[in-house]
Amino acid sequence: MQGRCSVCYRVGGFTGGNGMEEITLNVNGKAARVTADPDTPLLDVLRNHLGMMGTRFGCGLEQCGSCMVLIDGQPEKSCGKAVSTVAGKPVLTIEGLGSPEQPHPLQTAFLDEQAGQCGYCLSGILISAKALLDRNASPTRAEIATALDDNICRCGSHLRILRAVEHAAAAMRAGEAR
Ligand code: FES
Ligand code: FES
Repeated sequence: MQGRCSVCYRVGGFTGGNGMEEITLNVNGKAARVTADPDTPLLDVLRNHLGMMGTRFGCGLEQCGSCMVLIDGQPEKSCGKAVSTVAGKPVLTIEGLGSPEQPHPLQTAFLDEQAGQCGYCLSGILISAKALLDRNASPTRAEIATALDDNICRCGSHLRILRAVEHAAAAMRAGEAR
């Protein structure tokens, strides 16, 4: 990734950036116009410009997966994505997955399984799991583990998380898909 700060490793740190630009994003099905340095990480724009705090900053190094979002349906780490590269592409964040009134089956299953402790990793894990279930309605446990391999959970909730994804897949196959 070009333009990483040599101190904090974030994009556009001490490089001076490329100046401010108006960029139109498509986040959770809605257009959002922001004025930002085009090298600004998408994660920062989501949190600081758009006030969507559900996508987490973990490492800032594309290693922990807590900042995962879907871009064009593919799971991507938003801490390493310059905002200009996603202009016009559909971005799905955890805020777009479901709501308290109408949770996604994954969210229901994670609650039922109490799949998490601190919860910090869960936004990214839910997004990665959604990408998996969108392409594979009946994943094996090994396939779920592989799909979540880019997501780190320091609380060690892995077994509950695997079970929750299995239960969500079963619920969706049974017709609870949104
Ligand atoms: S914050 Fe993006 S991968 Fe860790
Ligand atoms: S639940 Fe704490 S990091 Fe995963």
